[in-house]
Amino acid sequence: MLLELNDLSIRYGRVQAIEALNLTVGEGEIVTVLGSNGAGKSSLLRAILGITPVSAGRIAFDGANITRSATPQRIAGGIALVPEGRRILINQTIRENLLLGATARGAVGDLEPELAAIYDLFPNLAERRDMAASCLSGGEQQMLAIGRALLAKPRLMMLDEPSLGLSPKVVDQIFDLFKRLNADGLSILLVEQNTGKALSVADRGYVLERGRLAVSGSPQELRADERLMRAYLGGGAGGTGGAAPEHAIS
Ligand SMILES: Nc1ncnc2c1ncn2[C@@H]1O[C@H](COP(=O)(O)OP(=O)(O)OP(=O)(O)O)[C@@H](O)[C@H]1O
Ligand SMILES: [Mg+2]
Repeated sequence: MLLELNDLSIRYGRVQAIEALNLTVGEGEIVTVLGSNGAGKSSLLRAILGITPVSAGRIAFDGANITRSATPQRIAGGIALVPEGRRILINQTIRENLLLGATARGAVGDLEPELAAIYDLFPNLAERRDMAASCLSGGEQQMLAIGRALLAKPRLMMLDEPSLGLSPKVVDQIFDLFKRLNADGLSILLVEQNTGKALSVADRGYVLERGRLAVSGSPQELRADERLMRAYLGGGAGGTGGAAPEHAIS
């Protein structure tokens, strides 16, 4: 297993954000974590990166116990996060934002070849590399956040609601990208409220309900669960499911 969580719990004072969760991501898998607002999805990703402390349980990455490792060590070890809300530095240039990903893994030396590879992937970013990131659309900012994470050279890329606020067309583009990156060997842990899109690319999914595992399984199994789809995932079986963004910003 690339990532293995055993009985993981996260609490903020009296709030139990995640309770005794067992979850795995195999090498080469796309795994999605679904659940409504406040289910604990962001807390989970932040704990895997070491930004949020765990209150109990164990996190193993590539067979090593990293439960108490510092965040820079986890990033250098191959875990990257594209955070909720993207967290782009809008007054910095696109290039500077990308380089933050390389800095995060402690990279030194000539980074131009790695930047060039990212520009190949995202021509929109290449054209404006020396402009402030504020000139980018929402979709382009999401691509910048993904490019920044890729410069950390991850083996596991975690994404926290990458589709939020983006038009269906842009969502299709970034999900196509996930498929291509995955085909090239990248393992992905994808948190989404857009259930339909997430299940269309995932190998397996976990559904969280107020910090607890409600159900896990293949996309087919999850889609077939009528009660679940209605109660937590905003749609019936067979529908596209998921929350369509009401206000597309790009
Ligand atoms: N820093 C914090 N301090 C206290 N409570 C927090 C903190 N961060 C999150 N929580 C609480 O933990 C629970 C899980 O929050 P979390 O943000 O992980 O959920 P989520 O599934 O990502 O939700 P959303 O879909 O809204 O992003 C919620 O009850 C939330 O209020
Ligand atoms: Mg969240």
